[in-house]
Amino acid sequence: MKHHRHDRNHDHHDDASLEELREALTREFWDERYGGSDRVWSGNPNRRLVEQTADLTPGHALDVGCGEGADAIWLAEQGWQVTAVDVSRVALQRTVQHAIERKVDNRVKVGEYDVLGTHPPHHRRRREGYDLVSAHFMHVPREDFDDVYRKLAAAVATDGRLLVVAHHPHDVDSGVRRPHGPGLLFPPEQLLATLGLEGGSSDDWAIEVAEVQDREQQTDDGPMAVRDTVVRLRRRQ
Ligand SMILES: C[S@@+](CC[C@H](N)C(=O)[O-])C[C@H]1O[C@@H](n2cnc3c(N)ncnc32)[C@H](O)[C@@H]1O
Repeated sequence: MKHHRHDRNHDHHDDASLEELREALTREFWDERYGGSDRVWSGNPNRRLVEQTADLTPGHALDVGCGEGADAIWLAEQGWQVTAVDVSRVALQRTVQHAIERKVDNRVKVGEYDVLGTHPPHHRRRREGYDLVSAHFMHVPREDFDDVYRKLAAAVATDGRLLVVAHHPHDVDSGVRRPHGPGLLFPPEQLLATLGLEGGSSDDWAIEVAEVQDREQQTDDGPMAVRDTVVRLRRRQ
């Protein structure tokens, strides 16, 4: 059976407890998930990543929840130095393997990182942060959301970008398989509020993109209309 991106997430029940939602963000959960098949994702970079980085000058990127490495490898091929992090060691091993196969292993460094734990790894040479912090489809319980995304925002360098792409709550009722549970999917406004940007750009951040974007997703049941939350911010200071 052909595996498609993002339609094989384990479902959570709407009445899942916080503990159950957090269990789905552990190394054990994801090592088992990745260990269950040779390849979970398509190997292609996320469309939003390609779109949202086209006008950026390559620098050092942090890819959070890198999975099997498709986004990190694509960024490396565009000239970025990439630190690719994930909670799953199986995912990181695959990222390393795929980077070697694509001959960009000199540009992709991997590291274990749990978004529910500490701060992301420091940029190796420049303490001030990353030129791009990218998180695609990192869905965490509402209780953890502010902490997780403020930590990721704090890892962005001055003039760097925070790029967050997620499944929009619209998808819960769309019929496509999604991680669903109370508050897991989120609209752009939720991230903006977390960073104090409900009123628009601030002294700290310029809002470059805060949109709900439509997309057609291929699934085993045929193409389905889905929506992405896409937020790109530039740190001003
Ligand atoms: C839905 S996948 C997205 C993978 C990739 N970003 C993409 O868009 O194809 C979520 C990824 O987050 C990772 N992950 C889950 N919980 C995590 C946590 N607590 N800390 C860091 N990464 C986590 C998983 O191992 C998985 O690779």
